[in-house]
Amino acid sequence: MGCSSSLSQKHAHVSLPLSEPQKYLVRETWETIEQHKNMVGKKTFLRFFEMNPDYQKLFPEFKDVDPVELENTSALYGHAKRVMKAVENAVSSLDDAFSFAAYLEELGRRHIARALKPSYLDAMQEALMYNLKDLLRSQWTKETEEAWNRLFRFISSTMVKGLQSP
Ligand code: HEM
Repeated sequence: MGCSSSLSQKHAHVSLPLSEPQKYLVRETWETIEQHKNMVGKKTFLRFFEMNPDYQKLFPEFKDVDPVELENTSALYGHAKRVMKAVENAVSSLDDAFSFAAYLEELGRRHIARALKPSYLDAMQEALMYNLKDLLRSQWTKETEEAWNRLFRFISSTMVKGLQSP
């Protein structure tokens, strides 16, 4: 029952699955993260490939780079910046995510050609959380962790919708 593509058919209000206190925590910590977003993006990708060396082969621009050289590979930062831009857009869309959700679904669809699997997004979430924790230190509480996990889960689950409905 229901229609999974209703998102693209009518302009419904799309809410992120975060409570008001969770939105507050995301906005508050984003003030710190934003100042370091390029570094967080870069370290997230280094962690991501460290934990999942196989995924490097999906990136034509640096698929053959020796893992110890990855850190000095400028092509790595292009995609890292794109992912952090999506995180930034999610923070700006906390109160109305309609157009952002449509963008994410389309982005997921474009990743079919990149051989993206939903589990890779889980791995990316793990790598991002690892680095947010490292950056935020005492600001990283159970509540903050839950709020950020919900935000990223929204990004990935919306991309997965596109990935699974070409
Ligand atoms: C939140 C997660 C992600 C976001 C926001 C994201 C975003 C993007 C964007 C904006 C592009 C540029 C091309 C386009 O717009 O179609 C792109 C390209 C690409 N993505 Fe992603 N992506 C994500 C996760 C992943 C993951 C987990 C993988 C693979 C493990 C991946 C693999 C690729 C590849 C291979 C390209 C083409 C090469 C490049 O642009 O560097 N993406 N991605």
